[in-house]
Amino acid sequence: MYRDLVVGSDSIVTLQNGNMVHYINFDNAATTPPFKSVIQEIVDFAPYYSSVHRGTGYKSIISSETYDAARCLVLDFVNGKKDYHTVIFLNNITDCINKLSFRLQDTLRNKIILTTYMEHHSNMLPWRNKYQVDYVNIDSVGRLDIDDLEMKLREYNGRVGLVCVTAASNVTGYINPIHEIARLAHKYGAKIFVDAAQAVAHIPIDMKEVESPEHIDFLGFSAHKMYAPFGIGVLVAPKNTFIEGCSECVGGGTVKFVSDNDVIWADPPEKEEAGTPNLMGVVALTASIRTLQSIGIENIKEYEKNLTSYALSQLSKIPNLIIYDDFNVDRKVSIISFNMRGIHHTMLAQILGNEGGIAVRNGCFCAQPYIQKIFKIKKEDIHRFRNCPKSRQPGMVRISFGLYNDYNEIDLLVYLLKKISDNINYYLEKYRNLPLE
Ligand code: ALA
Repeated sequence: MYRDLVVGSDSIVTLQNGNMVHYINFDNAATTPPFKSVIQEIVDFAPYYSSVHRGTGYKSIISSETYDAARCLVLDFVNGKKDYHTVIFLNNITDCINKLSFRLQDTLRNKIILTTYMEHHSNMLPWRNKYQVDYVNIDSVGRLDIDDLEMKLREYNGRVGLVCVTAASNVTGYINPIHEIARLAHKYGAKIFVDAAQAVAHIPIDMKEVESPEHIDFLGFSAHKMYAPFGIGVLVAPKNTFIEGCSECVGGGTVKFVSDNDVIWADPPEKEEAGTPNLMGVVALTASIRTLQSIGIENIKEYEKNLTSYALSQLSKIPNLIIYDDFNVDRKVSIISFNMRGIHHTMLAQILGNEGGIAVRNGCFCAQPYIQKIFKIKKEDIHRFRNCPKSRQPGMVRISFGLYNDYNEIDLLVYLLKKISDNINYYLEKYRNLPLE
């Protein structure tokens, strides 16, 4: 439906057997292809590209204005407030979470960080190496256990400083009720950080009024998952988070004054963006936001929901397929993970690529604790995997749709999966030399 909006949606690739096929990209959760509008904007802006915040030339002024105006567009996109929030442009969301975890150390000293077993490693590890961390559990189908969240908030009795949660899982696509979680966090005196990397191009994200108990305190996302490559991560946070102290990364652009033994830091967001800003990344991001807004995120959500629902119904007819899903498409983004009985996830992913030109991702998707929980892997087995990284690691095959994917592509995937399922021994023999880690 939105196929023409994306660069490369009609790419032809050569299969192992020499046949040429249309490439099917079902790996949008990892990174999306660019919008044509994004590439066009880059080309159109290129003649004006110049230094940001550093020059007096006409092009520098245009460049600085373009860069700074992008912050307002971001706030409009997620319903942030110009007077209250600051928008910091970094390299990706991992960078954003590392910064936030570093910069909150003074205010959250001796506080507990509550993250969840559903998180990407990027919303675990930066917290883990600086704070006491605990995890909200998941239920039997892999959804976040909100009762466990409330129980932990109650038991820690005001000691939880921050709840860090993903808006949507990069493994199952499950959407978390971020506003309900925000209400609970605030009720028990904590703030909330939402990792919106897997959500922002698929469902509306609303930080809500700051006065609302359901508002989101801190938000992060990555442009490369929203059809805008060129390396931009966005952190939206209250300005006052960055008034005291200084960034973990300092240098050019972060100061008002420097002498050989003194420094006065610039105001946020500049003090948090060391070095020459990534102007083209920001140009790409703004073009992407405008395109998403012109389509309407609600329309994207509806289309991808229908696509996901169709895929789930077709995939469930395939013998031997184990789908890690509760089939509630109203509460998930367009991600489906599965395994096929009798065949390793690496081999299955490889066959889809080699024989169908279908791109998927397999493994643990930078969410190993979540996979360990979903598979109910015992502690001693986790230990075994840890000590023997060459042993066959647990994992899944993941498909993830973007707005340009279509029903025909799902039919081709289902056709090939069915063929594999009906001829497992043939494929096991054919791919027997594939290293399976
Ligand atoms: N976090 C990205 C993924 O899930 C890279 O694939």
